[in-house]
Amino acid sequence: MSEQRPHVGLIGLAVMGENLALNIARNGFPLVVYNRTTVRTEEYLAGSAAGTGITGVATLPDLVATLEPPRQIILMVKAGVPVDAVLTELAPLLDPGDIVVDGGNSYFRDSERREAELAAQNLMFVGMGVSGGELGALWGPSLMPGGPREAYDILEPMLTAIAATTDYGPCVTYIGPGGSGHYVKMIHNGIEYGDMQLIAETYDVMRRALAMPATEIADVFAAWNTRALESYLIEVTSEVLRFIDTETGQPIVDVILDAAEQKGTGRWTIESALELASPVPTIDAAVTARNLSALRGLRVQASEVLMGPKSPGGVSDAQAMLGGDADAALASLESALYFSKVSSYAQGMSLLAAASTTYTWDLNLSEIARIWTGGCIIRAAFLADIMRAYSENPELTNLLLDVNVARKSDETVGGARRAIATARSWGIPVPGTSSALDYFDTLRQIALPANLIQAQRDFFGAHTYLRTDREGIHHTLWHGDEQPSEPVPLQIVTDA
Ligand code: 6PG
Repeated sequence: MSEQRPHVGLIGLAVMGENLALNIARNGFPLVVYNRTTVRTEEYLAGSAAGTGITGVATLPDLVATLEPPRQIILMVKAGVPVDAVLTELAPLLDPGDIVVDGGNSYFRDSERREAELAAQNLMFVGMGVSGGELGALWGPSLMPGGPREAYDILEPMLTAIAATTDYGPCVTYIGPGGSGHYVKMIHNGIEYGDMQLIAETYDVMRRALAMPATEIADVFAAWNTRALESYLIEVTSEVLRFIDTETGQPIVDVILDAAEQKGTGRWTIESALELASPVPTIDAAVTARNLSALRGLRVQASEVLMGPKSPGGVSDAQAMLGGDADAALASLESALYFSKVSSYAQGMSLLAAASTTYTWDLNLSEIARIWTGGCIIRAAFLADIMRAYSENPELTNLLLDVNVARKSDETVGGARRAIATARSWGIPVPGTSSALDYFDTLRQIALPANLIQAQRDFFGAHTYLRTDREGIHHTLWHGDEQPSEPVPLQIVTDA
């Protein structure tokens, strides 16, 4: 009897695709790879894939002919037009019941559309978020597959085998129908942007107000990585800050241009937050900060014209303002970063809950936090707290309302207030940290000044308002019975 043909194919041999294929083969799933440029496939098979049992083909019809139905074909091509281009060519070659998985950073609405288009041809489309970068793809990523449940059940043994594993199990779960897998990956990335911005602001306060060199800051982050802030991004930060540029002998961060780039997943997150009216101000601040950083020419010009505050003192004054001596100052910054991170994750999780309701995805937030405990870029000790909070109460309206999380926020919020006050006095921008505190301070108000906004709206536009003391929709005749008189033009006074 001849050996059974493989079920699994992978299209796209850029670094993520190459590494994911090696991971799949290492875990005992035979697979066939295809790349648009055949020479790339040949190099791969002769290079890193040599001896792994991975085989390659030169055309899509060959790929389809080589695989045993139901086929499981993973696309690892650039998000956007290339995904549609491959699907247009591939779908007509497939048989009913075959599965196509898109493992790129695709926009969730594209995944919704593609799922519907393939379903019309009796094919199953799975939009799967893959996080963890090159090493994650090779040794165990966090996987966020969404689409037909039936497809997930077929893919599950392979996905479970290749995903990262933590004390809480394999970092993969069925996310939900439609584009939910890519939506969850988008929120992961939004949270990633928030984390990176908050860390960068903390570094900025250390280097500017506390005059610490990069290598000393690296030690601080390394120490923080042994406590509540333990996470991949804190670890990465410490390693990056310690790295010396061989050409100049300086810490490499000191010679890297301060203009941050992005590929759009953070922007999509805030667009969705605006659409669903579920605010994510810290992610918003992070995206905006990257955009402002990229306006480098303008910043250089403005730095010559716009004056900041006179430095209110030296390092010892900054330390005093942050809470006392050097140790107390760093403890405040550690608290500030932890507090801001909690606030940012609360925003991201709330947006997930809002999307789950609006799109009827029935997302399991505890499971999502669980699969983020390993493999992905935002993996952090704190995710276990989120996992626990939502498993104890799946209907939790906001993470900050969990008793344990609320207590930790209360314990650390003082650090955030001191860090922001210090940064403001020194003229150091901390938009992410400030937004995290504002979110917290806004949530805990019984009385916001929105009453005045409602009154203003009613005054100039008869937009009506609700009252605190009685039912119904109200409008005030702001000018009594009189018709408002013609507006008096503003008297504009200009300086000579
Ligand atoms: C991951 C990352 C990854 C993302 C990069 C760069 O989970 O592995 O989120 O998917 O593409 O982090 O993103 P930006 O270029 O937008 O910063």
